[in-house]
Amino acid sequence: MLEPERSDRSRSGIDGSRIILKPGEGLLKEMEQYAARNYVPIVKRDTADLLIVLGRLIRPVRILEIGTAIGYSAILLSGILAPGGRIDTIERDESMAAKAHDYIKRAGLADTIAVIAGEASEVLACLDKTYDMIFMDAAKGQYPVFLPECLRLLRSGGLLISDNVLFMGMVDREGPVARKQRTIVNNMRAYIDTLRSHPLLDTSVLPVGDGVALSYKRTETETR
Ligand SMILES: C[S@@+](CC[C@H](N)C(=O)[O-])C[C@H]1O[C@@H](n2cnc3c(N)ncnc32)[C@H](O)[C@@H]1O
Repeated sequence: MLEPERSDRSRSGIDGSRIILKPGEGLLKEMEQYAARNYVPIVKRDTADLLIVLGRLIRPVRILEIGTAIGYSAILLSGILAPGGRIDTIERDESMAAKAHDYIKRAGLADTIAVIAGEASEVLACLDKTYDMIFMDAAKGQYPVFLPECLRLLRSGGLLISDNVLFMGMVDREGPVARKQRTIVNNMRAYIDTLRSHPLLDTSVLPVGDGVALSYKRTETETR
């Protein structure tokens, strides 16, 4: 049975911290079932757990997500925002964006999560506020295109999280890659190299879910 819609304020604990909707429970469980039935890719459970731990450490005020789908990870991430925090999430598929709107409204998070409908490369160029955390979870082939804009929008000391970078383990596995997957594997290897060699970033790639790259953007006083 779903909980009735509540206001965003009622989602806060007594200390002002937010209440995390848990994977496998309530509305998120319903969304997981919808995603499975309709072949919508959403974050894997262990990636969701990692996002929650990272968010607890960072306590972001502003999060940017590229790739909303039905709003599952955005709703999950809303739980780790600092009080008064906000999430902007970008989705180019209109029907996905509409579905995300519905779920976000039902979660009572319409004032907290803004779904921006549009092609990310165009939307990113129009954004001008900075973010504490950016979650990149869209078309893998476009990660290198999004990266410069993400670095412009990420505050120094902020965290860029790129999902699905190991592509079913193929990216860090040695040996031949099937012809069909060669382009995406090579592109993702090049993307990881870019992150690792970037003068502003410290990057670690974790074999969590489908592979998650964590990139910390250094402050001016932090040197390698
Ligand atoms: C993996 S799903 C996102 C899942 C979501 N983050 C979650 O875990 O609940 C990727 C989404 O990114 C969207 N997408 C892919 N490339 C995009 C682009 N260039 N601009 C905007 N959205 C994009 C797709 O339409 C798809 O809904």
